[in-house]
Amino acid sequence: MSIATEDTNKNQDFPTPKNCFAETVTSVEHYTDRLFKFRITRPASFRFRSGEFIMIGLPNSEKPVFRAYSIASPGWDEEIEFYSIKVEGGPLTQHLQKIKIGDTILMRKKPTGTLVNDALISGRRLYMFSTGTGIAPFASLIRDPETYDKFDEVILTHTCRDVAELKYGQELVANIKDDPLLGEVVGDRLRLYSTVTREDYEFKGRITDLLASGKIFKDLGVEPINPETDRGMICGSMDMIKDTKAALEKFGLVEGANNNPQTFVVERAFVG
Ligand code: A2P
Repeated sequence: MSIATEDTNKNQDFPTPKNCFAETVTSVEHYTDRLFKFRITRPASFRFRSGEFIMIGLPNSEKPVFRAYSIASPGWDEEIEFYSIKVEGGPLTQHLQKIKIGDTILMRKKPTGTLVNDALISGRRLYMFSTGTGIAPFASLIRDPETYDKFDEVILTHTCRDVAELKYGQELVANIKDDPLLGEVVGDRLRLYSTVTREDYEFKGRITDLLASGKIFKDLGVEPINPETDRGMICGSMDMIKDTKAALEKFGLVEGANNNPQTFVVERAFVG
């Protein structure tokens, strides 16, 4: 249900900056003391491509702090979803983590980003490699039917420090499969491969190690990555991106961009 429409100005102490929408928080869910999800109303005129990010902030100062957030919801959703880390003393997240239903979020008007289907040449299988909140752009893409028009199979990998941090991704995929419309499009073409690095779990280890050892392919029962058929998207910390990119290049994949589609693309997950 949509609570408010464009340019809501509720609970605001300062005027809305010119290039921003002021939207209303419709739900907040805390997963751990480091992670939470929230949803806001969607301005009727706001369009984006699944996988893109947008700058968001709070109306708590004359000059609000803005940070880039991947939009976690798909293009057809009537609300906008974000998945965020909470950083103690973080310029935005120290305040953002306290938001409640009815509060206002500022959102700039122009989305952008490289983790979009258009930045990849078509293939049979799309791997989405994520750590932590880096799963957010993929939460959008795996709920977009267009992703399944372009690829026969989607493998989403999500690696976190501990098991509690996997919950957002696990719920997301379970909800897709249970959804009457989306479930029919997606069927068994979407697979989630969750691993943890600092706790005991069925699947353990950094994605880079699992790619190097080939364990990921054994676990999934698929052939190793092949540049003829496989495509990749990466979203995580700077170090994770660097190392996962090197791993994909070893398999012969080539980094692309919006204006130069290739076999893999990368984007840094939001911090702070
Ligand atoms: P690790 O526990 O071994 O550091 P964070 O919460 O710090 O963003 O980390 C999320 C996940 O990303 C953790 O499981 C972490 O593993 C993993 N990770 C951190 N750095 C890298 C890297 N350079 N390559 C692959 N995975 C990484």
